[in-house]
Amino acid sequence: MAAENGDNSLAAPLDTCRIPESALYNAALMTSAEKQLPPIFPHRHLLGIEGLSAADITALLDLADTYVEQNRQVDKKGSVLRGRTQINLFFEASTRTQSSFELAGKRLGADVMNMSVGSSSVKKGETLIDTAVTLNAMHPDLIIIRHASSGAVELLSQKVSCSVVNAGDGAHEHPTQALLDALTIRRRKGRIEGLTVAICGDILHSRVARSNILLLGAMGARVRVIAPPTLLPRGIDRFGVEVFHDMRKGLEGCDIVMMLRLQLERMSGSYVPSQREYFHYFGLDYEKLGHAKPDALVMHPGPMNRGVEIDSAVADDINRSVIREQVEMGVAVRMAVLDALARNLPNELRI
Ligand code: CP
Repeated sequence: MAAENGDNSLAAPLDTCRIPESALYNAALMTSAEKQLPPIFPHRHLLGIEGLSAADITALLDLADTYVEQNRQVDKKGSVLRGRTQINLFFEASTRTQSSFELAGKRLGADVMNMSVGSSSVKKGETLIDTAVTLNAMHPDLIIIRHASSGAVELLSQKVSCSVVNAGDGAHEHPTQALLDALTIRRRKGRIEGLTVAICGDILHSRVARSNILLLGAMGARVRVIAPPTLLPRGIDRFGVEVFHDMRKGLEGCDIVMMLRLQLERMSGSYVPSQREYFHYFGLDYEKLGHAKPDALVMHPGPMNRGVEIDSAVADDINRSVIREQVEMGVAVRMAVLDALARNLPNELRI
C-alpha cells in the first residue's frame, strides 16, 4: 500500500484536507434539516404516554439530561431547530408549559410563534379544525397544542402535515409533564424502577395523573393513588394502581409524594364538602408526610393551591420539595421532545 512502501503520492496534500473558509461559513448557515441527527424516537407526534415503550421514554430522558447541562451554561443556545418553525397554540391558560415550550424552541434555534387564542379568529367562530388547517398552510414544523377537550389534540394531528405535541388535552393526557416528573425522579433517586409513588388528590380530572400512571407503570414503579372516592375515576384499579382513601395509610413507605390540585374549572357540582375539610383529610402537611419514607420527595406539577392540597411550609421546604426543580426539568424535557421529533421531519421541500 502507498503509505506502507513510503510512496505517499496517492495521499491528498495536507492543504486540500483543510475545510475551506467558505465551507465553514456555509456549515454555519446549514439548517437543522441539512445536518439532521440520527432518529431516536420512532413516532411522528407526541400525543400521550400511551403507546410509548420504556425504550422511547428512556431515549427522551437521556436526551433531556444533556439539555439540563446545556441550560445551566451561560450560553444556552443550540441550533438543532435552526430553520424550523414552531407554533404554540394554547386554548387553555398555562404558565409553565407554554413558557417552557417557548424557551425550549428558542434555545434550539427555532422560530417560535405563540398564538394568542383570545385575540384569534377562534373568537369569531372559526372552528378548531379550520384554525389548524389555516396554521398548517404557513408550513410550521411543530405545533404544540393545549385544549380543554380530551382527544382534541389527536384530532388536530390528523389535519396537519407537521409534528404535533400534546401540551394537555382535557382530563386525558399531559405527556411532557409526566416526562419532566420522571426526569426529576430519575435524577434525584437514580432510578424509577422499584420506587413507590403516591399520586394524591383530584385524580378524576387530572391529565397529569393519567400520564404519570402510564409512564411510571411502563418504567416499573409501583403507583398508588390517594383520594376521596368522589375524586377517583371509575375503573381506576384497571390501571394497575393501588387505591387508598386515607393519606396516612397510602403514604406509608412511599418514595415519592405527588400532590395534585383540585381542578375546580373541570368540576360541575360539589366533589368535596369544603376546601378546609379537604385540607384536613387530604392536604399534605408534615404530619402526613411523616408516614412516607424519611427521604421521600414532594412533587407538584403546579399551579399550587397553598393550604388546599399542600401546606405552604412543605411546598417550600428545599430538603423535601422538588417543585422548582420540576420546572427546570420542564424546559430540558421539552427541548428533548422538540429535538427528537424534528429528527423525524422530512428533509425535502413540502408543498
Ligand atoms: N403543570 C402545568 O401544566 O402547568 P401550567 O398549566 O402552568 O402549564
